[in-house]
This record gives sequence, C-alpha cells and structure tokens, in this order.
Amino acid sequence: MDKFQINGGVALDGEIEIYSAKNSVLALLAASILTDEQVVIHSCPKIGDVYSMIKILESLGCRIIWQNNSVVIDSSNADKYEIPQSYGKEIRSSIFMLGSILGRFRKAKAVFPGGCDIGLRPIDLHLKGLRELNIEVKEHGANIICSAENARGKKIHLDFPSVGATENIMLAGVLIKGKTVICNAAKEPEIVCLQDMLCKMGAKVSGAGTGTIEIEGVKKLKGVEFTPISDRIVAGTYLIAAAMTKGKVYIKNCRPNDLTSLISKLNGVACDILSNDDSILVKGYERPQSVLMVETSPYPGFPTDLQAQILALQTVSQGTSMIVENIFETRFKHVGELIKMGAEIVVKDRYAIVRGVPKLYGTQVFAHDLRGGAALVLAGLAAEGSTTVENVYHIDRGYCQMEEDLKSLGASIKRITC
Ligand code: EPZ
Repeated sequence: MDKFQINGGVALDGEIEIYSAKNSVLALLAASILTDEQVVIHSCPKIGDVYSMIKILESLGCRIIWQNNSVVIDSSNADKYEIPQSYGKEIRSSIFMLGSILGRFRKAKAVFPGGCDIGLRPIDLHLKGLRELNIEVKEHGANIICSAENARGKKIHLDFPSVGATENIMLAGVLIKGKTVICNAAKEPEIVCLQDMLCKMGAKVSGAGTGTIEIEGVKKLKGVEFTPISDRIVAGTYLIAAAMTKGKVYIKNCRPNDLTSLISKLNGVACDILSNDDSILVKGYERPQSVLMVETSPYPGFPTDLQAQILALQTVSQGTSMIVENIFETRFKHVGELIKMGAEIVVKDRYAIVRGVPKLYGTQVFAHDLRGGAALVLAGLAAEGSTTVENVYHIDRGYCQMEEDLKSLGASIKRITC
C-alpha cells in the first residue's frame, strides 16, 4: 500500500487550483441514472470514491468514458437495479444511489454502505424518508430491498439535517408523482449544486441551501452537461497547510463563501487571509495563535470534514484550544498519531483539548480515514525531520494526487508505492 515520505519544515509558497468537489460529484453521478440520455460531468477529480461510484453505475448497465477530466455517462442501456454488495460496501455514497435507482426503475436493492470509519453512520433517516414517500423498504440483514410502485410525494421532516438523506430523498422525489417537501434539509453547497443539475435536467426542485426543499415530480428528465462546484474541503485543507507551514499560498478556483466558518476562525489569529469571489490568498504567521474553541456543526457551521486539519494546526499554535466534534462519534483517530509526533492533546468523548507546542517531530504515522490522513500530511509538512504517512489509500479517496499539489507549492513530499 502506498505511503507518503515528507521532509518537514518547508514553508509552502505558490499557487494552487482547486478541482470539483468529491461530495458534489458523487451525488451528481448518482443523479445521472435518472435519465436515459447522456450526462457529462466536467472537471471530475480522479479520486478513489469517484472510481468506486463509476463501478457501481457500470454494474447497473451504464456505459462510462473519461474524456480528459470529464466523465461521460450513457445510461440508455442501464437495466439493473441492484448495487453489488462488494461495491456498496466500499463507499458511503452508494446509499443515495437508492433514490436515483428508484426514480428510474421503481425498484432498488442495496447493502448497508461503507465509507470512512468515523462513527456508526446509520441510515435510518434515509430509510424513514423513503418510506414516507410510500416506498416499500425491506431490510434483510445488510440487504435493503425497495419498491416504489406506489410512491408519491409527501412532506418529510428530517430529525437531523443529514446530507446523504437529503440527497437520497431529492433523487427519489424528482420522478415520482406529487409534491415532496423536505423540512430540516441539509444546507451544504453540494445540495445546492445537486439541485442546479437536477433543474438543468428538467426537474422541478427549489429551496436547496435553505432548510426547506420543495420538489414537484415530473415524468422524465433529459441529459445534461454540468460543471460541479469546487471542493471547499480541499481548499480549506490547503489553506490550513499554508498556515501550518508559515507559508504564502494563492488558492484559485475556490469558493471563499463556502468557507466563511474556517476563514473567520483563522484570519488574524493563525494567518492573514485575503479573498475575493473565487480565490484566497493565505499568509501564515511565524507563530499562529490558538483558536480557543472549534465546534463542528451542519453547514454553514464549521465543517466536520475540516476538524482533523484544524486540530493539527492547533497542535503547533500558541495557546490551548478545544475542539468539539458534534457530527460523528469517533472522528479523533488522528489524535493518537499526532501525539506520536509530539503533540499535546487529550480526548474525552467528543471533546479534544489541544495545548500548542513549539514544534512537532517527524515519525511514522498511520492514516485511519480520509480527513484524518490529510491532517497527518499537514503535520508532517510542519514537523522537524522526516514523516512517513502510511495507508495513503484513505487520502486518495478524496484528494487527487495530494503529493503533486503540495510538491507544486514547494513541499518535500514523495509517494512510495509498495
Ligand atoms: C456526508 O456524509 C459527506 N459524505 C461526509 O464527508 C460529511 O462529513 C457529512 O456529509 C457531513 O457533512 C458525502 O457527501 C459522500 P450525514 P453523510 O448524513 O451523508 C447521522 C468526507 O470526508 N445520520 O450528514 O454520511 C450520522 O451518523 C465525508 O468527505 C444518522 O443518524 O453525513 C452523522 O452523525 C466524511 N442517520 C450525522 O447524521 C442517517 O440516516 C451526519 O451525517 C444519516 C446520518
């Protein structure tokens, strides 16, 4: 399995361009099977989760080709409605294929999904929402068998603004009779992006980005060419990397408005941040100050997907900070690895207290999940000496050749293929 070898202590310097958002592209790929016409998704990142989603679509009978960075999907011959167990277990986003397969075929079969080991990750909100659309959902062990012959729109209240459950219900609702209203819907930018593409396909969806999404079912959707939004989590990761290495980085093709929670935490505390509509200039401080409190919460709150990265920054900031992970139960697996590097952190349940130290020291560390792995890379960039980050496949699920991006900013990092 691949690993990264990093020689720390280099201040990142240069400019970087951000690619399309993983968590947007995955939902758009799911939506592509809602039509039997061609769907083209531009600037698609070549990352593990996208490849996994493409395998699922191909197993349903879709024909998919890459044209440079665009993915062309032809599902005119798609005729299967069962997601193979092995593929479904690979990624979390397989579960919201349920909604789109039901929209197209009126029946679907899936398995309890995989994904990062960051918590229990139940799917009760997904299944409750589908049932409320009068979709028959049967669970046999890990298998989920659905029938939407009598599905009809309805007003649904989500107990929690779940991103995946919101997307699943949107994908199921666009092609069933009647009006569906999702109350307490997730507000993430990726939800708005999904609405934009569905509407371009002829769906009647409105309200994404607010807590209430309205869907009027239509009979058919048409093909589309679409460019997803850029990845706010990748942009946030590189912003934090610049601050951690006291560097100066110009981040292009990003969406600063999607990162207001991060920018407001760090600007003037850990670094200087100048931003306009689609770019951010970050200048790190010699010694960043600690951010006293970070609490993750649904968008527009602080994103759980940047928790590990900002925690890593706190380990080398001046002062003490508290990080509260409110979204996932066990999303601190990176803490033990950071402590190996000399970080001073204590964790109790969903709380981590971090006391900043003057420096971290390179050593061998293990990635346990996607964003925790990214945080270890950032720590290696800032540490004195050499750091080996093992199990880089976690990172490859959500970052496209992270080592190449960082090398282009002057980092001393190389991939070792074992
Ligand atoms: C999406 O996961 C993202 N993944 C995650 O990104 C992200 O961390 C998460 O949203 C929160 O923003 C994709 O979009 C592919 P949720 P999802 O449903 O949909 C609980 C990354 O690193 N919940 O909003 O699985 C759940 O346990 C990944 O890119 C239920 O209880 O997240 C969690 O505590 C990691 N029942 C909370 O809601 C349900 O039926 C948020 O989950 C569904 C969720």
